[in-house]
Amino acid sequence: MKITVAGAGNVGLVTAVCFAEAGHQVTCLDTQKEKIEMLEKGHTPFFEPGLEPLLEKNLASGQLRFSTNPKQAYRGAEIIFIAVGTPEKKDGSVDLSYIYIASYHIAENIENDVIVCTKSTVPVGTNDIIKQILQHRKPRHLNVDVVSNPEFLREGSAIRDFYLGDRIIIGADNPKAASIMEQLYLPFQIPIVVTDTRSAEMIKYASNAFLATKISFINEIANLCEKVGANIDEVSFGMGMDKRIGLNYLQPGIGYGGSCFPKDTKALVQLAGNVLHPFELLESVIKVNQQQHSLLVRKAKERFGSLKGKKAAVLGLAFKPETDDIREAVSLTIIKELLGEGSFVSAYDPIAIPNAHKLLGNSIEYSTTIREAVKGADFAVIATEWDQIKHLPLDTYTAYMKEPIIFDGRNCYSLKDIQRYPITYVSIGRPTIANVAHTPQH
Ligand code: UDX
Repeated sequence: MKITVAGAGNVGLVTAVCFAEAGHQVTCLDTQKEKIEMLEKGHTPFFEPGLEPLLEKNLASGQLRFSTNPKQAYRGAEIIFIAVGTPEKKDGSVDLSYIYIASYHIAENIENDVIVCTKSTVPVGTNDIIKQILQHRKPRHLNVDVVSNPEFLREGSAIRDFYLGDRIIIGADNPKAASIMEQLYLPFQIPIVVTDTRSAEMIKYASNAFLATKISFINEIANLCEKVGANIDEVSFGMGMDKRIGLNYLQPGIGYGGSCFPKDTKALVQLAGNVLHPFELLESVIKVNQQQHSLLVRKAKERFGSLKGKKAAVLGLAFKPETDDIREAVSLTIIKELLGEGSFVSAYDPIAIPNAHKLLGNSIEYSTTIREAVKGADFAVIATEWDQIKHLPLDTYTAYMKEPIIFDGRNCYSLKDIQRYPITYVSIGRPTIANVAHTPQH
């Protein structure tokens, strides 16, 4: 089929490339000229494992092309995916301006019947607004159906999630449009759920909000474990063996970040507020998550008294491993707090340093090796569980740090391994390992 994807971001680009790979003729449209020029050269503007080779392959085969011109991009399309950004506004509500602009451009440039699919995460009821815009502004003789088709891609595993997702959600009011979408997704052999558009919109928000709730819940249990002498590794495993709970999203840490959970949880609270239904549970999830972000610096202050003049090595800048995305990364909160306490910060990340530097400039030092980052450091703070950190030989800390003291926000190491080294190790929901004599400096 002829498909156009509006938006070449984390969702749009993966959608465009994967449908091209499935044999469709795909045009990916974006307003940013430099981004499109980069893509036309086969380079992705962000890191996503496996995406660039697929991009190059489908550019070369002619299955995929890019454009900044809506008339050219929408001409002849049978299915149009709206995958533009829906950023968070200051008050926590969703900025839908890019959605509306895309809708206007579609209405003004289509020349044949089309199905418009909203892949962007949008508040319940948005697809009805898109439908109104299209019905009002499209050429009279054309039929346009609007379908909600939310995505569940995780950064760092987006290609895998596209091909091996647990379900495809299709929210459609016209059964004919629904069956065309089912035909499109049939070859992927993923269970398809057809429902109405509002339920499809809610499935997306409710899914992300539930995963965020699971994370804040296990983080609170971890905080409790520290106070009652339990070990969250054991507790989380023992809980997760219950199929009703499941082991996924029970990894305790310093809280969730990224461009989705923080935004989508606030948007759902907003949405609930708009219908006079205070979503107190989700408000607590957000509050617990924000408090978790400050846990490590609090622990460091308890340990040292003052952090002024100390050198802190922050290991991990990206909001999670396998991405260079630093949006709402907990590392940013940690760095801001450390600088506020008068510490010097040296940060390590395998791929997110360019993005971090755009935001933090020269307020901190950057190291492309962990050894460099921890050299002469008074303490290390682990913010992202990169494999390079998890598999680091632990004697790196004892050999290079002024004093091997680690505050681990992602429980990268087992207590058993740590105990074999003269390291002081403070992690989440587990007993502190103090293998070196230490007199607090006040
Ligand atoms: C999420 C959803 O998983 C995905 O379905 C949706 O489409 C977009 O938002 P993403 O934000 O890319 O995906 O990453 P994810 O792997 O879900 O992690 C989100 C955050 O939760 C990260 O900051 C991660 O560190 C944190 N997390 C995840 C935990 O703290 N504990 C866990 O057990 C899992």
